[in-house]
Amino acid sequence: ETSVRRELRMRADVVRTLPQRDPFSHKGSHGKGLLIAGSTDMPGAAFFSAKSALRSGIGLLKVSVPDTIKPVIAGWLPETMFMPRNRISLDGVSGVVIGPGLGRQSHEETLVCQVVEESGAIPCVIDADALIHLKHHLDLLPRRSVPAVLSPHPGEMAALTGNTVKEIESTRFDCSKAFAEKYHVYLVLKGKYTIITAPDGRQMVNPTGNAALAKGGSGDILTGILLAFLLQHEQVMDAVCNAVYVHGAAADNLVDGGHSLLDVLATDVIEAIPPVLHDFY
Ligand code: APR
Ligand code: MG
Repeated sequence: ETSVRRELRMRADVVRTLPQRDPFSHKGSHGKGLLIAGSTDMPGAAFFSAKSALRSGIGLLKVSVPDTIKPVIAGWLPETMFMPRNRISLDGVSGVVIGPGLGRQSHEETLVCQVVEESGAIPCVIDADALIHLKHHLDLLPRRSVPAVLSPHPGEMAALTGNTVKEIESTRFDCSKAFAEKYHVYLVLKGKYTIITAPDGRQMVNPTGNAALAKGGSGDILTGILLAFLLQHEQVMDAVCNAVYVHGAAADNLVDGGHSLLDVLATDVIEAIPPVLHDFY
């Protein structure tokens, strides 16, 4: 490799690549997503991802949560449909997310493998606890025809690669590139200046976002935007870069007007997505 292919994602790139909405479109035109997330101890993660996907233009969303939390999630999210956790089916689904607040028990590891295997022909976002389960099954990734999107924070990246967080932090570009190329995935290595790497090694650096996002739930929001954008863009790389950009821009807008870096909640970030999109549309 002689040329280094790294670019800063600019606002103009987002303007150029955000999908135009066809005035004659219907809900089926904008994707039917399945979100497999949440557990008894982490119902909020499923809510954050689902609500963010809905705020980002997804046509239809099915949520699969454990029966224990379904009533509360249904109360929070009247826009969603449900799929029982023990009867996951990808029939008619055009994109899937697995991971936020999923839990780390062994039956969830089986589910992660099943979903990664069966969703090979549609976009699949793998995040949070699903990444921890996946580390023993990385061989499933290169077999997919549509590359998966993985969104680890540095701790999850360390778990995936067997490195320490310190090693990840000091080699963010190189370890992202090595992993994305080896396993044929889109890798989103999160943090200040999130790096997005394509399976061919091309890299983008995201300039938006701030330390108000350093709070539980922020990552779950990004996962939801990723799902919605994957179902509405032609190019996976544009979908991923635009999702990361909009997520950060929502937090930047909050801090520019009315919020401090301390007080921003995940629910505030979700409700800051509409003004960001309004500026673009
Ligand atoms: N500057 C810019 N962006 C930031 C900053 C910062 N200082 N801090 C965090 N962010 C952004 C990241 O880039 C990422 O998009 O906020 C998001 C944080 O995502 P996660 O680390 O996944 O956080 P979250 O999911 O909310 O909480 C962690 O989820 O992944 C599981 O096991 C993990 O239980 C833990 C929980
Ligand atoms: Mg997370």
